[in-house]
Amino acid sequence: MSNQNDIPVKELRDEDLAEPLTYSVEPFLSRDYAEKEKDLLWPKVWNMAARLEDIPEVGDFITYNIADDSIVIIRIAEDELRAYHNVCPHRGRQLVNTPDDVNCVKGRKKNFVCGFHGWTYNLEGENTYILDKDDWKGSLEQKERVCLSPVKVDTWGGWIYINMDPDCEPLLEFLGEVDRILSPYQFEKMRYKWRQWAIYPCNWKTAIEAFMEPYHVAGTHSQLTKYGQFYAYSKPYGLHGVSGFDERDASQKTSQSSGVARAGLGDPRISTYELAKENYETVNYAASTETLVNAASRLKDELPEGTPVQEVMNHWMKSAKADDAARGVVWPEITPEQQSEAGLAWSLFPNQTILQGVTFALCYRTRPYGDDPNMCIFESYALERFPEGEEPDTEWVYAEPTAENWGKVLAQDFANMEWVQKGMKSRGFRGTLPNPHQEQKITNFHRHLATYMGKGHIDFLEK
Ligand code: FES
Ligand SMILES: [Fe+2]
Repeated sequence: MSNQNDIPVKELRDEDLAEPLTYSVEPFLSRDYAEKEKDLLWPKVWNMAARLEDIPEVGDFITYNIADDSIVIIRIAEDELRAYHNVCPHRGRQLVNTPDDVNCVKGRKKNFVCGFHGWTYNLEGENTYILDKDDWKGSLEQKERVCLSPVKVDTWGGWIYINMDPDCEPLLEFLGEVDRILSPYQFEKMRYKWRQWAIYPCNWKTAIEAFMEPYHVAGTHSQLTKYGQFYAYSKPYGLHGVSGFDERDASQKTSQSSGVARAGLGDPRISTYELAKENYETVNYAASTETLVNAASRLKDELPEGTPVQEVMNHWMKSAKADDAARGVVWPEITPEQQSEAGLAWSLFPNQTILQGVTFALCYRTRPYGDDPNMCIFESYALERFPEGEEPDTEWVYAEPTAENWGKVLAQDFANMEWVQKGMKSRGFRGTLPNPHQEQKITNFHRHLATYMGKGHIDFLEK
């Protein structure tokens, strides 16, 4: 096992990620590293904490826990959020109890009363009541001493992000090009379709990396190769990264083939349907929509044999768009060039992934669980565009990692993650060998992680 922790972080450039590299496994395995993440990573990045639909009304709050920190996010006005550290300044009781077996705590309040001695705070975080305040001989007159500790909060795409660093860069700067490329998808207009979570036995990075590349499809989801090729490119955008479907043979490229809605192998009128249906049904009714699958099922009747791939794709999208319009779901205008640039799936540093379509998104987030680097909180949820008023009511459901709960494809992913965590500990493991074309999202992640952590290493493989 390579363990050269003292090697300083290399200043890798984007183009270096296309070279054969290796990164250290210490971030996945070391307790000391997990401890340091609490200081050097989580309080220094924008954390995706929740979605706006979690707190629709004024006074609604939701908690977000990351490592030892807990944050309360409150909607204090129709279009204004505040976030605070979830702790009472008196003697440190959590203001909102956050038990480990609950994914997040939600509620609605006019003010927050600490359960220990009753100190009280309004939605602006100001202290409004202290029993026997005079006992402190005037020293609690300073408002900053007795108010809640504020945390930066902002939103993008309907997600709520928090940052514990008071000097952090603005969220849009942190997101960089992600905003330009993904904003056309209008994720803020999508709503939860389902959301599930589990406590899973691997590091949070081992878990999120299982969803960073389609290179594993042939080996892990071999049933899918019957329907399509899963060769993919991957590339960095600052801290973040994207992957998209690619062709081993460049002459096969079509302008829309990089995303999940694409033609399969053989007659595209048939394979497009088979691929969309298979994706939809085996990825827990996500990664497509009922409208898209139904429209794809009609392609063989609506188009003559021999229709070129691009025409089949255009027809499919046009008829699905019309079907959705008829039920009140309006598609955003996203040009083929924009779709192509947006690719298949994004990893937003450090722990958010989004696999997007025009009317849906399949998303993951992973977080540490307790102090154990071998455990994580795994969450997945599907977003979709619904007709107004028909959005389903969803809550986080704890779901053991089985095919019954998560669908065949996710169960196949679960069937790797735990064993990757164990395998990386082998003294016979000579170090990682990520794919320079298809797994750049992962090497890019390690490059930036190493920068935040000030340790860990990425090296070029010797030829
Ligand atoms: S710890 Fe909150 S009032 Fe005492
Ligand atoms: Fe997978």
